[in-house]
This record gives sequence, structure tokens and C-alpha cells, in this order.
Amino acid sequence: MKVLGIMGSPRVGGNSDILLDEALTGAKDAGADVEKIILNKLKISGCHDCKKCNETGICVLKDDMPEIHKKILEADAIIHSCPVYFWSMTAQMKAYLDRWTAIFDAEWRWQKAYYPKMKGKRIGLITVCGDPNPHTADPIVHSFKSTADMTKLNWIGVVMASATDKGEISKDENAKKQAFELGRKVAN
Ligand SMILES: Cc1cc2nc3c(=O)[nH]c(=O)nc-3n(C[C@H](O)[C@H](O)[C@H](O)COP(=O)(O)O)c2cc1C
Repeated sequence: MKVLGIMGSPRVGGNSDILLDEALTGAKDAGADVEKIILNKLKISGCHDCKKCNETGICVLKDDMPEIHKKILEADAIIHSCPVYFWSMTAQMKAYLDRWTAIFDAEWRWQKAYYPKMKGKRIGLITVCGDPNPHTADPIVHSFKSTADMTKLNWIGVVMASATDKGEISKDENAKKQAFELGRKVAN
């Protein structure tokens, strides 16, 4: 079982990163091999909607995303972690998610070649927002949950937390426990 963690905050060691680490620790605890990708350390352009990938399943943009596509295909489960920026996901996470286009065909179904690897892949989400109401992150949940519903990914769940300062979430034992449990659940 391989679990891939995708970190969408530019703040390494920040709240989304801390909760993702908790989740990956949970996954490891359940016997999984884990890998974390920090999107902000990579070059990931936005999708150009050139549609060339509709035929080939391969993105023409020469940046770090094709390597991530390979890791997405190989993983049994993916946990995304992202803070709220202006009632939405970060630019880094949005560029990454838009580039999932390359693994779909023109009808927004998995490319035939990828279908066996993508069908039923487990997916989980962690969100953090500065607002004390964690549901400020609902638009992020909507994006990931809708993607999962459309493509029949196996939606394992979401952890929604609130914190503002870098690392503040460390004090939130409940959020950390929920993230750990999410990691265990995706790996089971
Ligand atoms: C550019 C920017 C925009 C933000 N927009 C929002 C927002 O719309 N709503 C909110 O609740 N918090 C907002 N925040 C606060 C972050 O979501 C919060 O500080 C979070 O803990 C950051 O997580 P991180 O440590 O993983 O980067 C914003 C922060 C930044 C830097």
C-alpha cells in the first residue's frame, strides 16, 4: 500500500504540513509506504487546455507535473492538504489539480490506459483556515469531493481545522488525532 501526501501550502512546517505529517504517520502506522510532495518546491504551470492529452494521456507541458502524474498512478491512496486562501485553495494546489486533466479523456473519464490504476483509488483531504469556522474551507472540499464523485474515486474523508499562525495547529490535539486517523483509514 502506497500513500501519497500532497502538500498545497507554500508554508513548509505550517499547519497543513503538520496535519499532513500526522496523516502520513497514521498511514505508516497502518503499514503503508508513504511519500510527501511539497507542491511549492516544484514547477507546476496551469493547464493550457490544449487538449493534446485527450488523445495521449500525456501532458505536453515540460515541468514537474508529469512526474507527479506517475506517482498519482502508482499510489493506492492520496491525501491532499491545503489551507484556505481567499475562500478557495492555494494557487499551488489549483495548478496541480487542473493538471489532473491529463489523466482524463475528452469525456472526463479516466484515460483507458489509466482506468485500472485510478478506479477506486482512495482519496482524503485536510483543510486549514484562519477563520474559527472550519467550514470556510467548504469550497475546497467541494472541488475534491466533486472530482472524486465524478470519477468514482473512493472518498475516505476530510479533516477540517482552524489555525492562523505558522505551526499553531500543533496545539490542536483533536485536529492532529483526526488527521492521524484519516491516514490510518486511507491505508486500511
Ligand atoms: C493569501 C492568504 C489568504 C488567506 N485567505 C483566507 C481566507 O479566505 N479565509 C480564511 O479563513 N483564512 C485565510 N487565510 C489564512 C490561512 O488559511 C491560515 O493562516 C492557515 O493556517 C494557513 O495554513 P498553512 O500554515 O498550512 O499555510 C489566508 C492566508 C493567506 C496567506
